[in-house]
Amino acid sequence: MNILVVGGGGREHAIVKKLRENSEVKRIFCLPGNGGMEQIADCVPISAKELDGVIEFARAHDIDFAVVAQDDPLALGCVDRLHALGIPCFGPDAQAARIESSKVFAKDLMKKYGIPTADYQVFDAPEAALAYLDEAAYPLVIKADGLALGKGVVICQDRRQAGDAIGQIMEQRAFGEAGSRVLIERFLTGPEVSVLAFTDGKTICPMVSSMDHKRAGEGDTGPNTGGMGTVAPNPYYSPQVAQQCMERIFLPTIRAMEAEGCPFKGCLYFGLMLTEEGPMVIEYNCRFGDPEAQVVLPLLKTDLLSIMQAVEGETLDRINIEWSQGAAACVILASGGYPGSYETGKRITIPEQLPENVTIYHAGDKLTLDGLVTSGGRVLGVTATADTLSQALESAYAAAQTIHFEGMFLRKDIGRHALALLED
Ligand code: AMP
Ligand code: GLY
Repeated sequence: MNILVVGGGGREHAIVKKLRENSEVKRIFCLPGNGGMEQIADCVPISAKELDGVIEFARAHDIDFAVVAQDDPLALGCVDRLHALGIPCFGPDAQAARIESSKVFAKDLMKKYGIPTADYQVFDAPEAALAYLDEAAYPLVIKADGLALGKGVVICQDRRQAGDAIGQIMEQRAFGEAGSRVLIERFLTGPEVSVLAFTDGKTICPMVSSMDHKRAGEGDTGPNTGGMGTVAPNPYYSPQVAQQCMERIFLPTIRAMEAEGCPFKGCLYFGLMLTEEGPMVIEYNCRFGDPEAQVVLPLLKTDLLSIMQAVEGETLDRINIEWSQGAAACVILASGGYPGSYETGKRITIPEQLPENVTIYHAGDKLTLDGLVTSGGRVLGVTATADTLSQALESAYAAAQTIHFEGMFLRKDIGRHALALLED
């Protein structure tokens, strides 16, 4: 079989590695892929956002199955267009992808179907938003409606910060068109859990839970990033919480999408906060998380391609999905300055031999005549699996120490809260 994977980060590397385990898979084309994936996929320099190029490539290459892994092509209708060519796909169509691409769509869906989430207001004009801020209670959270690389969320402690945020998002358009509408919502507190789930629109199978570390600095300080590290499973996600989430959030969400005429097929990501009032949805994503995929997929025992085909064929109820009992940890190695501006083109050194339980997922790098060099903010994800979380973290950090590029930085406290809870 020939497989097409659309996207080029660490998440796509984790997906490709897993698809490679199926012996029927012959070629995997990754658009655009990255420097570290070249050994297991044919990386083609077509941007995942350049939909015409992606579709032209698919038409010309006898693709048997496609996995659209990145948010922008999903929102732009990549799956709709691949389906129109007769290519089976894993991923939601554009209508269903609105669950991520429009926060207002997602919040209105939750409100209509009674799915627990923070109370909110929607504003289309800065004047009305600013007037609301004069009366509001603080802290509060301001979110750009559209896709903003995980950076369109500002937690505001007071009126001044909130006014600045509205100015940046709605007036200066720091996130472009994504900021033409904003949500202002109640600030919630509690541990955060990421749950990715396979769903064919009728059946939903949650994967092993995970915990992301979104802030750039240690102790959860500094600006939000795409994610600086993950652990799985998330110890806050007890069987009792899992049951509540299934009854109050997961099943109601896929039924709501079906009732709205846009059933969701693919990987649905629930960003949850475990509040004193019970689990609430902070956000939905219409795809695997990055770097959540880098800890969840290594624990998957069942063949990934078979699951993806069952999602597309709407036969997920016939598959038994199995997971390893152990744990996984992923530490991101980032370019100095990320998530702000950073330099690229720095040579990367990685030891030839790594321990068997360690995998390096490449994200922001490219292969040049000089070897592997950095080309993005999040450069590598060092994942280790082990029987326990503490062993997984130890292996991931030990391997991270053997890797080098100029300006490299990492958070040293990935998994610290999770370990403290386990040791309690
Ligand atoms: P999002 O992009 O919607 O996941 O938001 C990014 C991060 O902002 C989340 O992971 C939370 O840590 C935080 N956040 C978002 N919404 C809220 C909220 N209503 N209350 C508290 N924190 C929030
Ligand atoms: N790690 C968060 C995300 O993928 O959106």
